[in-house]
Amino acid sequence: MSKKVLVLPGDHVGPEVMEQALRVLDVVQEATGTKFELKHDLCGGCSIDKHGKSVTDEVVKLSTDWADAIFFGSAGGPEWGHSWPNPELGLLTLRKATAAFANLRPCTFVSKSLTHLSPLKTEIVEGVDFMLVRENCGGAYFGPKLEDNDSAQDTWLYTRPEVERCAHIAAALALQHDPPLQVTSSDKANVLASGRLWRRVVSEVFEKHYPQLTLKHQLADSLAMIMIKNPRAFNGVIVTDNTFGDLLSDEAGGLTGTLGVLPSASLCDIPAKDKPVKGIYEPIHGSAPDISGKGIVNPAAQILSLAMMLRFSFVMYKEADAIEAAVAKVIDDKSKGGLEIRTGDIGGKAGTKEMGDAICSVLKEMLGGSSNGAAH
Ligand code: NAD
Ligand code: IPM
Ligand code: MN
Repeated sequence: MSKKVLVLPGDHVGPEVMEQALRVLDVVQEATGTKFELKHDLCGGCSIDKHGKSVTDEVVKLSTDWADAIFFGSAGGPEWGHSWPNPELGLLTLRKATAAFANLRPCTFVSKSLTHLSPLKTEIVEGVDFMLVRENCGGAYFGPKLEDNDSAQDTWLYTRPEVERCAHIAAALALQHDPPLQVTSSDKANVLASGRLWRRVVSEVFEKHYPQLTLKHQLADSLAMIMIKNPRAFNGVIVTDNTFGDLLSDEAGGLTGTLGVLPSASLCDIPAKDKPVKGIYEPIHGSAPDISGKGIVNPAAQILSLAMMLRFSFVMYKEADAIEAAVAKVIDDKSKGGLEIRTGDIGGKAGTKEMGDAICSVLKEMLGGSSNGAAH
């Protein structure tokens, strides 16, 4: 099986966290004898500076025709302003071109020792564990747009197949657990026509194909409120449209107290055991210009995005689990056998490289060090 990865670090902290994640990938290659073919390129403000556009046709072609996975850092920054087109358009172009329609954004504590970072009381937030599936290629982001000086319009458009594939992916993720997880679908069916389509189609898919699964509907505004009052109510899978998913996944970042440990995977197909699926892997956080260049950004979200890439695009489950365990061990309290090496956002003083070093060395130990493993 080929293992071609297009590496797009992007802007500001993107290259800083990518450097650490690629060191972790080196540890995996060394320990397992697996070879990845990497191509490095530009997307975001760095591409605007060099080529005058946020992503070139060549990079789009590499992502659609060459790559098995795209490993993305972050795009954007104040120096490129909010005028359109902007650096962020490069990322949106890649999501659409590769049809990476399902953005999986897990919300859980990578280590229990981080529960206290939440602004919520521990008894409210402990044990929260849900996977938010955000529709990634439609809705207000991608419908036809009109814009002039005095008026502007985004079209919040969905078609039946776009909603159906999200319903199927939510069900597939729920069915990966025994017993299966509950699924909560979120929309504004009380106001938006696209929300009524969303609710009708999700219900039909579940009635027809997954009668054994529990499906609940929750309006997106009240879901945002309950996510603070009783976030465990959504343990399982949440499936929602592009705009609501963007907002709710940052809210989920607020629950855990930092965006620095939250990864994501945008999948181009429905995952199944031992079936590699193409995807774009990136942290939920952005380019964090306020802390870039200081060597203090938390690399965990990028490294955990690598774990998602190994799991979904390369069916390397053991290595993906080991990376997650290594990150947890580095962060964990000493009293729990951890190293307590943490960046500032998670209550420590370590730098980006120090955390990367520690994760690499723990992972090396876990995977057995030298390249005597069977090639994948
Ligand atoms: P942000 O996620 O970059 O930062 C929000 C806050 O969280 C900042 O205080 C930042 O320092 C902190 N933070 C984020 N990641 C961190 C990490 N790994 N370790 C420690 N602290 C971390 O959001 P923003 O400031 O609203 O956006 C900055 C730029 O990034 C904007 O141009 C935005 O459009 C872009 N953006 C890009 C992506 C992407 O490329 N996937 C995602 C979100 C935002
Ligand atoms: C995200 C970001 C992007 C989005 C931006 C940078 C285009 O906020 O990945 O959550 O809105 O999808
Ligand atoms: Mn966002």
